[in-house]
Amino acid sequence: MNNLAYKDIMLTEEAGGCLLCHEAPCTKACPYGLPVDSIIRSLRFENKLGAVNKLPEELPCRSCESKQCKKDCLKARINRPVHIDEIMEGLAACERVKEEKVDLSIEFCNVQCENPFFLSSSVVGSNYEMVAKAFDMGWGGVAFKTIGTFVPKEVSPRFDALRKETVPFVGFKNIEQISDHSLEENLSYLKQLKKDYPSKIIIASIMGQTEEEWTYLARIMTEAGSDIIECNFSCPHMAADGLGSDVGQNTELVAAFTKAVRRGTHLPILAKMTPNIGNMEIPAIAAIEAGADGIAAINTIKSIMNVNLDTFSSGPDVEGKTSVGGYSGKAVKPIALRFIHSMKSCSKLSKVPISGMGGIETWRDAAEFMALGCANIQVTTSVMQYGYRVIEDMIEGMKLYLSSHGYKSISEIVGNALEHIISADNLNRDSICYPKFDKAKCLGCGRCYLSCYDGGHQALTQDVKSKKPIMEPRKCVGCHLCVMVCPVQAIVPGTRVRNKMPLCDISEGGN
Ligand SMILES: Cc1cc2nc3c(=O)[nH]c(=O)nc-3n(C[C@H](O)[C@H](O)[C@H](O)COP(=O)(O)O)c2cc1C
Repeated sequence: MNNLAYKDIMLTEEAGGCLLCHEAPCTKACPYGLPVDSIIRSLRFENKLGAVNKLPEELPCRSCESKQCKKDCLKARINRPVHIDEIMEGLAACERVKEEKVDLSIEFCNVQCENPFFLSSSVVGSNYEMVAKAFDMGWGGVAFKTIGTFVPKEVSPRFDALRKETVPFVGFKNIEQISDHSLEENLSYLKQLKKDYPSKIIIASIMGQTEEEWTYLARIMTEAGSDIIECNFSCPHMAADGLGSDVGQNTELVAAFTKAVRRGTHLPILAKMTPNIGNMEIPAIAAIEAGADGIAAINTIKSIMNVNLDTFSSGPDVEGKTSVGGYSGKAVKPIALRFIHSMKSCSKLSKVPISGMGGIETWRDAAEFMALGCANIQVTTSVMQYGYRVIEDMIEGMKLYLSSHGYKSISEIVGNALEHIISADNLNRDSICYPKFDKAKCLGCGRCYLSCYDGGHQALTQDVKSKKPIMEPRKCVGCHLCVMVCPVQAIVPGTRVRNKMPLCDISEGGN
């Protein structure tokens, strides 16, 4: 390790390789009582400041002879243990940031929420015990698993995950429908949850089959003590026609069913939108004009994945067959953000509250949705992968971000990114931001050269001896592919100059 940037890469890699065990042996083994697993988890979930703050002033690992944490690390059984001691040393070298008092509470659809972090409607919030545990751990609310008047027959298996390189859940596919509990059971869960957790927010997600059913469901969810009603106009894989995303793609049905729900409740109504459509604004406007108070987006994206090339079946494989199902998780985040932006920049929707979701794993993801205008965010796939505990780093990481940037309340960041997204024809096309090369950091791996040649504008060559890149400014168009592919972040955006300036203008680039 020759500099701080490499240390950062080591920290990220080590934390990324941690198995994130439940009741982790490393923590149990630590003779000094360090919350080893929680520190590594904070690092993994982009809460490095929180990880640093969990260390004592004097690092006890330095004098630890047993290194039992590494001996007990379950990853050692696969190849090698996580380098826990190096992680702790790396973190101990970082500056501590004091957490100032910040207010995470926020108003959403006129409902006061202790924080904006909610479970989204799915298996992660489908009975009393699950939601109670999530509330105890800090989640501000739940959009309970969609409740209908019928109990669907489900298949096994019903999930599949897309793995690329070492990342196991690039995206996630499910073909699960609505709640598999009876209406009576679901109502009793909601009532008990509201009784035991009066300050937590309960969104009842519903799906009717007729206008009468939508009205009925809205009425009984309201009587059960829900705070908000969410209309599931968006599940993409219902086994019967005319449900879920079939509704969300049809403005007339969206309007008719929203009106039906309004007849059954005085509570705020959210219309949950399908991304399986070009313009989400059209059904969203229909819902708002029909009486909805806000929008929830996005539900899952229709998908097919992982074709098995021995059997030619695809996942989830139900006796050799599958069906189109809903894609979620980190892969869908950019798509979710673009839909949210489209709605927030539409004049008829700009003031409409949005609950955003799709691929949120960390406080940073959540903050990005909020910066695009969401006053509330919801999460499923990340909880399925890692458990409710992701809330700990969401709350702590968000607080540290807000306080270190001088914000007093989370509501101050809502919408801050909107003015930075403009139409393509309004972008400045008369200047180039050249890449800047840090030769000390560069390892001479040649990845930038390869990508620039094969996928760019052939502006890089490699120094014969050092193998480090040399840029030919007349050929460089400032596309930043080299910045993206550099594995050690030795290439960063440099000076922006007017188009076609001579070499001297990028001298800062250190070529
Ligand atoms: C297993 C599973 C079940 C789901 N069930 C529902 C549901 O019953 N109702 C609903 O509105 N959305 C349902 N969703 C969609 C999620 O609420 C959410 O909109 C979507 O997964 C995107 O968020 P995520 O990337 O955090 O998972 C489900 C998603 C998954 C993965």
